Amino acid sequence: MITFGWFGPLMWAAVVVAVIAFASIVGPILFGAPWVPMPFHTARRMLQLADVRPGETVCDLGSGDGRVLIVAAREFGANGVGVEIEPLRAFISRLTLFVLGLRRRTRVIRANFLEVDLGDADVITLYLLPKAIRRLAPKLRAELKPGARVVTLTYHLPDWPPAVERDNIRVYRI
Ligand SMILES: C[S@@+](CC[C@H](N)C(=O)[O-])C[C@H]1O[C@@H](n2cnc3c(N)ncnc32)[C@H](O)[C@@H]1O
Repeated sequence: MITFGWFGPLMWAAVVVAVIAFASIVGPILFGAPWVPMPFHTARRMLQLADVRPGETVCDLGSGDGRVLIVAAREFGANGVGVEIEPLRAFISRLTLFVLGLRRRTRVIRANFLEVDLGDADVITLYLLPKAIRRLAPKLRAELKPGARVVTLTYHLPDWPPAVERDNIRVYRI
């Protein structure tokens, strides 16, 4: 006789995987943007246009796999802070930064960026949907220090004149 004793646990495992995948894809879309990593050369261009200096703090809101932090720390000598809402991506990016030996220069906060204080940031990078950018705009104006820069890719800050605009990237100065 054929038994299906394994079927129950297997089905539950499939359900758990499906729920995690759903939460990991749909959750970030509801909160700000899906995970669409920008190319490394675009991250480099954004940081160049923002004129990032060694020792400055670059904060990537919605940091995905941490690539903006990697470029900021390795190529610009900056300190990188990522804020990522999706736990698995936050974990993987921490692991990547550790393996690359960038742990002392970078960190990833697992949180909603609307709930993180931005007062220490010199440069904020944003690659998010328009709705999330609109939500962030008043927070950026309220919390960023004079001299800080906000760099956006593709979707930009409404009603805020950019200091630099090139290659679908805009830089705003506080
Ligand atoms: C378009 S991806 C950009 C990833 C990374 N900045 C890059 O350019 O490669 C947007 C990221 O923002 C994250 N995200 C969306 N809403 C968020 C929120 N409210 N707080 C923190 N992270 C969020 C998503 O999980 C996703 O990883």
